[in-house]
Amino acid sequence: MDRSALAASLRCAYSDGFKMTDTPRSVFPHRHLLGIEGLSPLDIQALLDLADSQVEVSRQVEKRKTTLRGRTQINLFFEPSTRTQSSFEIAGKRLGADVMNMAVASSSVKKGETLIDTAATLNAMRPDIIVVRHYAAGAVHLLAQKVDCAVVNAGDGAHEHPTQALLDALTIRRNKGRIDGLIVAICGDILHSRVARSNMILLAAMGAQVRLVAPTNLLPPGIARLGFPTFTDMRKGLEGADIVMMLRLQRERMNGSFVPSVKEYFRFYGLDQEKLSYAKPDALVMHPGPMNRGVEISSDVADGAQSLIREQVEMGVAVRMAVIEALASHLPNG
Ligand code: NCD
Repeated sequence: MDRSALAASLRCAYSDGFKMTDTPRSVFPHRHLLGIEGLSPLDIQALLDLADSQVEVSRQVEKRKTTLRGRTQINLFFEPSTRTQSSFEIAGKRLGADVMNMAVASSSVKKGETLIDTAATLNAMRPDIIVVRHYAAGAVHLLAQKVDCAVVNAGDGAHEHPTQALLDALTIRRNKGRIDGLIVAICGDILHSRVARSNMILLAAMGAQVRLVAPTNLLPPGIARLGFPTFTDMRKGLEGADIVMMLRLQRERMNGSFVPSVKEYFRFYGLDQEKLSYAKPDALVMHPGPMNRGVEISSDVADGAQSLIREQVEMGVAVRMAVIEALASHLPNG
């Protein structure tokens, strides 16, 4: 399957969530960011270019912009999060928005309020942007249909995590100078990972050669149809790779036992220096975090010279600033 056919086959019903606006001059012609599915390579490139300039803003002493002045951003997280929630908060504040973190644990959601009622309640407060993370795939699309503001998907179940894929792409592009033609091995719990799914779509759309490395029971059924080479032998899967992207075992999404023991999982699928030596000598290692050291990655690799893990966190703020700024250009008076 050629790359454009692959990218097309990855676009499905979810692309309906993208509302085209009538401002053709906009660099990013979407009202919401609900997934990577439905974005064109040009949309992705526009966000990465904008994010590059936001990196510079964040490295200055004076980090405050005014693009979002007077706007209200609500972060609505139904699942625990450290880096995603804090980087959305920092991103909104650096753009000058008023940012409110809604603590779901102490909200009416705990009293049985439905997602739609929560959306209607928040909508009545006239926010401009809502950033949502939810444990159910599709919940963010549903919420986007019920509110008047822009919605950003900060991760919905095992479905998509678009800003993670964008920050990964930005990190790769800044270190390798390109994405096109690179061999990227995505390794670990692909079955439960929204990060893997968004990355597969984005990297294929941008011309990378994506490989999947996992035990058979951690690969989604029917994955072969998408045409990505899959490997159950990690050393073979890493051979000649430019980028090794590790994933956490998503135990909270597992029904039953998927791995016999952590020790055995690490032996076959944990990234250590020996397995990494099968990749290109200048291969770079990524992980979206949170990391489980000694489960999917050894400490010496995570903290080693080939690791981009800390840089990914920095790029997370820049990408989220870019996404918020791009969506804000479609708000009334944007
Ligand atoms: C990822 C997530 O929440 O999907 N983490 C993140 O956003 N940094 C990956 C994970 O939880 O393993």
